Amino acid sequence: MLGNFMYCNPTKLYFGEDSLNYLNEELQKYGNNVVLIYGGGSIKENGIYDAVVGLLNRNGKNIAEISGVMPNPTLAKLYEGIEIAKKHEADLLLAVGGGSVCDYSKALSVSVNCKEDPWEKYYLRFEEPDCECIPVGCILTMVGTGSEMNAGAVITNEKTKQKIGHVFADEKIMPRFSILNPKYTMTLPHYQMVSGIYDIFNHICEQYFSGDDDNTSDYISEGLMKSLIHSSRIANKNPQDYEARSNIMWTATWALNTLVSKGKSTDWMVHMLGQSVGGHTNATHGMTLAAVSLPYYRYIMEYGLEKFKCFAVNVWGIEANGKDDRQLAEEGLKAMENWMKELGLVMSITELGANENMIEAIADTTFTMNGGYKVLDHEEIVEILKASL
Ligand code: NZQ
Ligand code: ZN
Repeated sequence: MLGNFMYCNPTKLYFGEDSLNYLNEELQKYGNNVVLIYGGGSIKENGIYDAVVGLLNRNGKNIAEISGVMPNPTLAKLYEGIEIAKKHEADLLLAVGGGSVCDYSKALSVSVNCKEDPWEKYYLRFEEPDCECIPVGCILTMVGTGSEMNAGAVITNEKTKQKIGHVFADEKIMPRFSILNPKYTMTLPHYQMVSGIYDIFNHICEQYFSGDDDNTSDYISEGLMKSLIHSSRIANKNPQDYEARSNIMWTATWALNTLVSKGKSTDWMVHMLGQSVGGHTNATHGMTLAAVSLPYYRYIMEYGLEKFKCFAVNVWGIEANGKDDRQLAEEGLKAMENWMKELGLVMSITELGANENMIEAIADTTFTMNGGYKVLDHEEIVEILKASL
């Protein structure tokens, strides 16, 4: 384990079928003005909205609502929410939804009292907030992003087609509490369920495929990946399997709550490519990652052969006898490809609405990261995107 680090995660989690009950005690900690934030209406269809509003009313809260937070939340929507939260003098932002709603609420938290334009301050200059931030609580209904226990907030500027994530350094931006009821995820369409599963898997990969020291974080990551592969196969056949769905939910949280990044340089290049595709197509986050992953990993494999070999043997159970590192690494990625196809993931950016003419523009808005096994230049990004068509 190399490097120096600090680990602190202040988000309090309530997990399980009865977890919503704990909202009662959390609500006592904040003032009366709650802004309830949710997406396009799934929570009204599956009864979660009624359950949450009932609890808020019984606790005497004054509720304002921000509804219609879209997947890949936009800057225009952020500006709209700032006005609502200001007018309501919000004491608590209560996010009920998936990563989009949760990310949006964190972006709102740092923007309501911000004296400058939040897009420029947080997403172009990557500064930290210097104003009072409004506490965020989260009731999760879609599993994948880990937003329920991290300080990330991704916002899309629909005018410039830039989709940018800011992972805030201050852990106070993490939700104060998150309620994780696996039952709430049962109404997700199959497409969203598997997209979330791949998002989880890739979060782990982004941290695992970096560094060459013997690192405890990698052993935790291998365990998380094995659990996810196992549970995803069960959930894919029977989405109503509570045990599998609850394991997937718990894995998602640990995949991106900063634990497995400790002592790691971390890569995040698949996310940079996927996010840029998302900025140009508005496609579902996990599917953008699925579509670019294999071309990327096959491209960088030779630069991190040792780790790709471990991935094959320790995660996918490939028999090592008589095979060289390259052969093992390739078999590991083949096993991953087979699993992705089994889940029904999108395997090309063409299916997400991208085409050859868009490649240069997508490459131009792709951030380059330097923590992985290979730092890509512009031509290599173009090459990988073309291989993803
Ligand atoms: O809007 P509603 O009607 O609620 O429908 C949503 C949405 O259409 C639906 N949904 C959610 N829960 C449901 C449900 N439908 C039926 N039953 C339920 N229980 O699912 C759709 C997708 O929801 P969304 O929140 O967009 O998905 P996800 O959780 O994947 O979040 C994606 C956003 O998170 C960002 C992504 O870039 C994207 O903007 N990310 C945030 C990260 C972070 N904070 O660390 C990291 C990730 O890598 C990611 O970048
Ligand atoms: Zn992700």
